[in-house]
Amino acid sequence: MSIIDVLSSIVGDAFAAEGLNSALGRVVFSDRPDLAQFQCNGALAAAKAAKKNPREIGAAVAARLEADKRFEKVALAGPGFINLTATDAFLTEEIRAIAGDGRLGGWRNQEPETIVLDYGGPNVAKPLHVGHVRTAVLGESLKRLMRFCGDQVTGDIHLGDWGLPMGQLISEIARERPDLPYFDESFEGPYPEEAPVTLEDLERLYPQASAACKADKARLEEARLATAQLQAGRPGYRALWRHFIDVSHAALAREYGDLGVTFDLWKGESDVDHLIAPMAEELRAKGIVEKSDGAQIIQVARPDDKKETPPLILFKSDGSVLYGTTDLATILDRVRTIAPTRMLYVVDQRQALHFEQVFRAADKAGYFDADRLEHLGFGTINGPDGKPFKTRDGGVLRLRALIDQVRERALERMAEAHIAEGYSEEERTDIANKIGLAALKFGDLSNVRTSDYIFDIDRFVAFEGKTGPYLQYAAVRIKSILRKADEAPNAAAITLAAPAERDLALAMLAFAPAVRSAYEKRQPHILCDFVFNLAQSFSKFYAAHHILSEEDAHLRASRLALAAAAGRQIELTLDLLGVETPERM
Ligand code: ARG
Repeated sequence: MSIIDVLSSIVGDAFAAEGLNSALGRVVFSDRPDLAQFQCNGALAAAKAAKKNPREIGAAVAARLEADKRFEKVALAGPGFINLTATDAFLTEEIRAIAGDGRLGGWRNQEPETIVLDYGGPNVAKPLHVGHVRTAVLGESLKRLMRFCGDQVTGDIHLGDWGLPMGQLISEIARERPDLPYFDESFEGPYPEEAPVTLEDLERLYPQASAACKADKARLEEARLATAQLQAGRPGYRALWRHFIDVSHAALAREYGDLGVTFDLWKGESDVDHLIAPMAEELRAKGIVEKSDGAQIIQVARPDDKKETPPLILFKSDGSVLYGTTDLATILDRVRTIAPTRMLYVVDQRQALHFEQVFRAADKAGYFDADRLEHLGFGTINGPDGKPFKTRDGGVLRLRALIDQVRERALERMAEAHIAEGYSEEERTDIANKIGLAALKFGDLSNVRTSDYIFDIDRFVAFEGKTGPYLQYAAVRIKSILRKADEAPNAAAITLAAPAERDLALAMLAFAPAVRSAYEKRQPHILCDFVFNLAQSFSKFYAAHHILSEEDAHLRASRLALAAAAGRQIELTLDLLGVETPERM
């Protein structure tokens, strides 16, 4: 139980003793740390419900709490807030428990879930760019956080590998190299094992094909036909398409790997193709498929909708399937193969309507309860002009270029700040890489998920302020103190006495509530706020007190153990954010 839970139960009992609901006793960290450590606002809510004076109720509850030895001070403030300050003995006991715990007091989900987390979502043959950053970074962090809380999480990349772009590529290659066996319908195989295209080819061919299809209706028709034939199973097209997937997979795995983002499953839209016909059959049997202008649709509108929710289109009039069809079939696939309790989608906020349609259709079909399908939308990354981020020449910034850029900036900053001076070239590069990624990820994750933010590389990569590099530096500084210590940190040695020690302990005690809140809201920025506050509290503590040079052995041991626990908590929180801490800097 976190200290917040312990205090809430004590205060809840006092409310209950007054004949009031114990839930009113919920305690939070004080928003006036100068006045108290904790507070309870329950008397105000109680008074409203009972039409009584909140100060009267507050006073009665406070009087009961005064008898509790764990409080140093209980005071009524303002219209009826109950301000609470714990004794050092109680705080010491709580902080020792955290420092001695492998999970550092982190919150645990009492009813663990089995989750499919859908993030990444790149498309085959299209290079990763700045638009792929948020889903990757948020998805990785949420995966780590949920696992830490005890859930079983399967991360699935859900490759876009089955739509028109595939047919566009096939027909483009058919024009450039008609002699390839993939286009010869009388060819009896086996098809070459070697891919006929490289990644560079794909990256050149796709934009070329897509431009041609935009300019020329006939080309678009060709691509449509190729897509339909691919989906219908034409052997040469399937064989060629398999090469696209393999070439892209290898490249994507490398690039996500460089970003420190991994997936448990590399399934794609194509993997559910075989489920679509039987699914449609079943849906028709259930009577939820309607015909509309030749297309087959599922109505998902509800009478109380404020905005119109258009139907999900299962098949277009030419029989082809759409994005919603594959997403619906994917839900079915996940139910059958993983049987999750929840499915989460980390996808751009602009796809909200799509997911609303899919979720309602899945619910209507009886496949999965819509309450357990969550679209975790996110805002866009903007440039300094407040518009979606573009390169100087107006193009999209490739992820590769972005990673190179942050690493370079990190190297510049390191030189300015005399960091990693005299280290080997190899170690410097490794540190620069970690700092660059920390800048990028923390710069992203520290924003409310649903908000847009401005990509400001100079601010993100700074060693001062609320940044990834600042936090890495804080963790590394503590590591270096510990390396120099003669003794191993011992949690039982902690005794709190001075204000800066107490404040540091309070910052650490906020870990469990922060983890819980970040988990429940699916908002990693709550962890960013927590860890920044912790690092600042450590800085103040370190400025106020000696650690290794403290002469009193008891004080020295206590502070060393406090520092060690704070360092581990910073490193653990960064890890939950997908940020690596170097050994030294
Ligand atoms: N490939 C899609 C896109 O580029 C994103 C996929 C998101 N996941 C999903 N299950 N729809 O927009």
